[in-house]
Amino acid sequence: MVQIKKDAKFNPDADLVLYEGDCLELLSDVPDEFVKLVVTSPPYNLGKTYETKMDMKEYLKGQRKVIKECVRILDKKGSICWQIGNYVDNGEIIPLDIALYPIFESLGLHLRNRIIWHFGHGLHASKRFSGRYEVILWFTKDDDYTFNLDPVRVPQKYPGKKHFKGKNKGKLSCNPKGKNPSDIWEIPNVKSNHVEKTIHPCQFPVELIERLVLSMTNEGDWVFDPFMGVGTTAIASLIHGRRAMGAEVMPEYIQTTKERVNQAEKGDLRIRPMERNIYDPNNPNYIPPKFAEINKPSKKYND
Ligand SMILES: C[S@@+](CC[C@H](N)C(=O)[O-])C[C@H]1O[C@@H](n2cnc3c(N)ncnc32)[C@H](O)[C@@H]1O
Repeated sequence: MVQIKKDAKFNPDADLVLYEGDCLELLSDVPDEFVKLVVTSPPYNLGKTYETKMDMKEYLKGQRKVIKECVRILDKKGSICWQIGNYVDNGEIIPLDIALYPIFESLGLHLRNRIIWHFGHGLHASKRFSGRYEVILWFTKDDDYTFNLDPVRVPQKYPGKKHFKGKNKGKLSCNPKGKNPSDIWEIPNVKSNHVEKTIHPCQFPVELIERLVLSMTNEGDWVFDPFMGVGTTAIASLIHGRRAMGAEVMPEYIQTTKERVNQAEKGDLRIRPMERNIYDPNNPNYIPPKFAEINKPSKKYND
């Protein structure tokens, strides 16, 4: 059993801050350049139970306020990842990444990747093609930023491939640690039969966020999620020795987050493992669900 230090309001000495209320209230307490990574999936303005559908201009104004604060609290070497899909009105779509990009650009951020998250399940459209991807916009604050590729490499397609001529003849032609996962990620979304499914209608899978946390932060760093939902960002951060902080307006989602964190403290939170193992020829496809366990955050790593 690993116990971490939790608080319900901003506390620089905690390992986990879960704030019940508006993210702007929590943000106003966080010092400048405090967090290494901001990762979130905001409301899409679709009129879900947890949001009020509003005029697009109003929606973007609200997002700008939150994004501006997120930029303020971001470390110089830090990243912001905004995971979004489409706003849909009367069958017409507005890709939210396109609508939101000018906000990030105007705040001086640098776009590093527009990651396509592809998944197999969703609504079946009848008057357009069914949507099977969403986007993660990854921005950095500066040109010098934390990026660790090795922990998120994926198996090579031809792991034993060798150079057949030249001075490296006979040596492996690909990196034995695996390859760069690219900017198209095929990861199952959390539908009813997913091992991580909770009461939340739109939670993201832990493995999606693990990849961002592992590559864009170091152990002990703070990860912030302004629209925390049922705490997926917190789980993905805590199981890798990072600290996590976030806000959520719905009390039942805060409660679910607490339950998930308690399970992870006991080492019995079931998650779908991120498939980052080096290629195993005896077991190339099937990796069963695993039990996630919290890794107590260490002192902040200085990079
Ligand atoms: C798309 S969901 C995020 C789900 C989350 N990624 C997860 O895995 O559980 C957006 C969440 O933002 C919350 N929310 C909406 N407005 C908020 C605000 N102003 N401050 C904090 N949370 C808010 C909603 O209740 C909802 O749970």
